Amino acid sequence: MEPLTPPPPLAEPAVRIDSHLEGADERSLADDVLDGLTRPFKELPPKHFYDERGAELFDRICELPEYYPTRAERSILQEQAEELARLTGASELVELGSGTAAKTRVLLDALHEAGTLVRYVPVDVTEQMVRACAEELTEEYPGLQVHGVIGDFERHLDRVPPAVGRRVVAFLGGTIGNFPPGSRRRVLRQIRRLLGPSDYLLMGTDLVKDPEVLEAAYDDPQGVTAEFNRNVLRVLNRELDAGFDPQDFDHVALFDRQHEWIEMRLRARRAHTTLVRALDLPVRFEAGEEMRTEISAKFTHQRLAGDLSAAGLQLVRWLTDPEQLFALSLSRRVAS
Ligand code: SAH
Ligand code: TRP
Repeated sequence: MEPLTPPPPLAEPAVRIDSHLEGADERSLADDVLDGLTRPFKELPPKHFYDERGAELFDRICELPEYYPTRAERSILQEQAEELARLTGASELVELGSGTAAKTRVLLDALHEAGTLVRYVPVDVTEQMVRACAEELTEEYPGLQVHGVIGDFERHLDRVPPAVGRRVVAFLGGTIGNFPPGSRRRVLRQIRRLLGPSDYLLMGTDLVKDPEVLEAAYDDPQGVTAEFNRNVLRVLNRELDAGFDPQDFDHVALFDRQHEWIEMRLRARRAHTTLVRALDLPVRFEAGEEMRTEISAKFTHQRLAGDLSAAGLQLVRWLTDPEQLFALSLSRRVAS
């Protein structure tokens, strides 16, 4: 008899995807609706914008002439990627709210070029985007491992796999600004736990500037941003069998000068009551009543340094574009 030869060890598959949403996500939507639509000043958290249609609309926002943040952030990345690769020596890039990872490729290119890149870990609530970007990136970067995490970066950061070598956590697009100051610092503290002593956080933040420029970026004449804002109502209709007519609401974007953030709201055009059937919840809107759907905080060097330091992080580099529209910050853990 031929001796049994053991099978060759399995090569590490290039793509692995873990999902932590399953049902829990619907529950969180239901909780968010129960919390947010029964209070005197109605409010919904922004993560529910991004279903497939929402993600497509967001991509279109990024191309709008008025929406400068994407272009400004990409130009800083292009200018600095090589230096960032050298400075960090990262073998792993973890990206929070990765979306289509369009700008991320600038960083991946530089790390690939430097010969240090081993693994990319995209973390996003939108399953489709994590899967599609994992497929694309393993084709574009031969030998790259992609470990996608479908989850909520407010709740599931402990599920990010242990680091493979030196890690950079990227949090781009100004998404950190979508958290109000208190939860912003909580999220930063959670991100800190993903970092070892030689790891870095690379974060994009939009900067305080002329309110007209800011408001235009969130209220384009083509109405793409308005459609994106109203998309959250379609998500409620589909997921919770609600009866919203998106056309009953106007898109509102205004710069709150005291807090220095953009506020996105939906304003009821007429008084009406809508039933959220899955929750058996009637929701009443008066004519002109506004529901807050997102804030997008604008930063100064000082504000960011303060937030980072409150979370046990310290600024290492502050990188901006020539017009000072947007900033990329590199930070690391304060030694403890
Ligand atoms: N990083 C990309 C996309 C920014 S849009 C860029 O810079 O262009 C924000 C992204 O974060 C979307 O892909 C959205 O699905 C994701 N997102 C929003 N809230 C989230 C949450 N709580 N947990 C995980 N992902 C979230
Ligand atoms: N994180 C993006 C930002 O704050 C998201 C965004 C852009 C957005 N345009 C929007 C959210 C319009 C709601 C409505 O810039």
